[in-house]
Amino acid sequence: MAELLKLGVLISGSGSNLQSIIDHIEKGTLPAQIKIVVSNNPEAYGLTRAKKHGIPCAVLKHQNFLNREDFDCELIRILQNAGVDLIVLAGFMRILTRDFLHIFEQKIINIHPALLPAFPGTHVQQKAIDYGVKFSGCTVHFVDEGVDTGPIIIQAVVPVLPDDNAETLANRILKEEHKIYPQAIRYFAEGRIIKNGRHVEIKNFRNPDHAAIHNPPLER
Ligand code: GAR
Repeated sequence: MAELLKLGVLISGSGSNLQSIIDHIEKGTLPAQIKIVVSNNPEAYGLTRAKKHGIPCAVLKHQNFLNREDFDCELIRILQNAGVDLIVLAGFMRILTRDFLHIFEQKIINIHPALLPAFPGTHVQQKAIDYGVKFSGCTVHFVDEGVDTGPIIIQAVVPVLPDDNAETLANRILKEEHKIYPQAIRYFAEGRIIKNGRHVEIKNFRNPDHAAIHNPPLER
C-alpha cells in the first residue's frame, strides 16, 4: 500500500474544516494522516476536536513571541519534527513569513471562504453581500507571499440569496468547504497535481461534471 500523506493542520478557531478532514480520513476516503494540529489560539475548539481523535496538538500563543519571525521559527521546528508532507491552513488567521514559505515551498495550502480573486482578506461573506454578487463560494489555493493570491486548486460556487446575512452565507459556503478541502488534499495524496506557474492541473479525472449554474434561476 502507498504511504499515507502526512499532514500538519494549522487552525485558529472552530476547526470544522479540520473535522471534515478527520472524518474523510476515518471513512477511508482520504489516504492521509494528520501528524499534528497547531493552533495559535489556546481556546480554539479545533483543539478539542483533534484531541477527541487522538491527534497530537501544539499551541503556540503568538503573544508569547517577540515577532512574527520567532513565532514562525518555532512553528517550522514543530512541523519539521512531525515530519509533515503538506501544511493545511484550516482557518489559520496568521500571515506566514517568507522563511516559512521558502522552507515549505509548494507544500502549503489554504482554504478561503470566497471565490478568489474576488474578496481576499477578512469578513468576506459580508463583503460579498454588500457588493451584491449573485454567487460566492470557496477556494483552495497554494499559499504564496500575497494575501489569498496563490494558484487555485479547486473552487466551489454557492448562490447568494436575497435574505442572506453574513452568517447564513458563511454556513452555505462552509458546507462546500467541507467537501472541497478533503478533495484537494486527496489530489495531493494521489500525486495528481501538476502546477505550472499560476495554473494547477489535476491529472486523471474521473466522471467530470461541468454544468453551468444560474442565480436567479433561468425560467423556462
Ligand atoms: C473557514 O470559513 C475558512 O475558509 C476561513 O475561516 C473559517 C474557519 O472555519 N478562513 C479564512 O478566512 C482564511 N483567510 P473552521 O475553523 O470551522 O474550519
